[in-house]
Amino acid sequence: MIIKEYVNYKKEELKKEIEGLTVKPHFVIIQVNEDEASNAYVKGKIKDATEVGIICDLIKLPITISQEELIQEINKINNNDEIDGLIVQMPLPRQIDEEIIKLAVDPNKDIDGFHPLTKMDPCTPKGIINYLKDEQIPLSGKNAVVIGRSNIVGKPMARLLLLENCNVTQVHSRTSKEDMKFYIEHADIIVIAIGKAGYLDHSYNYKPDAVIVDVGINRIDGKLHGDAERDLPVKLQTPVPGGVGLLTRLTLLTNLMQAYKARHK
Ligand code: GUN
Repeated sequence: MIIKEYVNYKKEELKKEIEGLTVKPHFVIIQVNEDEASNAYVKGKIKDATEVGIICDLIKLPITISQEELIQEINKINNNDEIDGLIVQMPLPRQIDEEIIKLAVDPNKDIDGFHPLTKMDPCTPKGIINYLKDEQIPLSGKNAVVIGRSNIVGKPMARLLLLENCNVTQVHSRTSKEDMKFYIEHADIIVIAIGKAGYLDHSYNYKPDAVIVDVGINRIDGKLHGDAERDLPVKLQTPVPGGVGLLTRLTLLTNLMQAYKARHK
């Protein structure tokens, strides 16, 4: 199923499930920036939640807020029994240490999956794994190559692929061109999150049955481009836009349901 249809189908399922709940799942987004991309993400998250019957509140805080004051706001949500999930939208202003803020969120409410003790997985890698499994893409014993090593995508992606028994190779900006070519051409699954438009191009000899998952969002002249060129000769390539971004958004909702169920059991 193409990702757009898949996500709509999953959202319908969620909506039906939530219709049957007397206490509705409820989460809060704290935003401390005037970032245009963040505004768009936040709007998307609120729209997704509302569509399936989840309650979502946005708390906008002044950009001059101190780290201590932000932690106090987070604690209010942590201690509010009516709230199941909390997102602190990144980036944060310079006076605030993002790593400290990630640790301030109650791990049981951390639907971003950023806290080291949370049981939720980060939304992008988890959304990708769920999609690949639902599409019956074989994972066990397959060569998975993760291009990129960010904390939010690359590292957790490699961990989740390993849990599915893939042979995982992680490559990155310091990998030599020659080695990169070797790994790419032996890969059954490539997840690319390197932030360079068209990095995967037609110069490589991909396995014909390979699957390319494109996490890149590169804005060029107002248009979105992935990290891979379009129409590579492989079995499945996720589009940009209309690909991984939708899976990430879906997984935020399923993480919230996981947090809700753990709190209401
Ligand atoms: N900023 C960009 N992506 C994300 C995300 O997934 N979660 C949060 N909290 N902030 C972001």
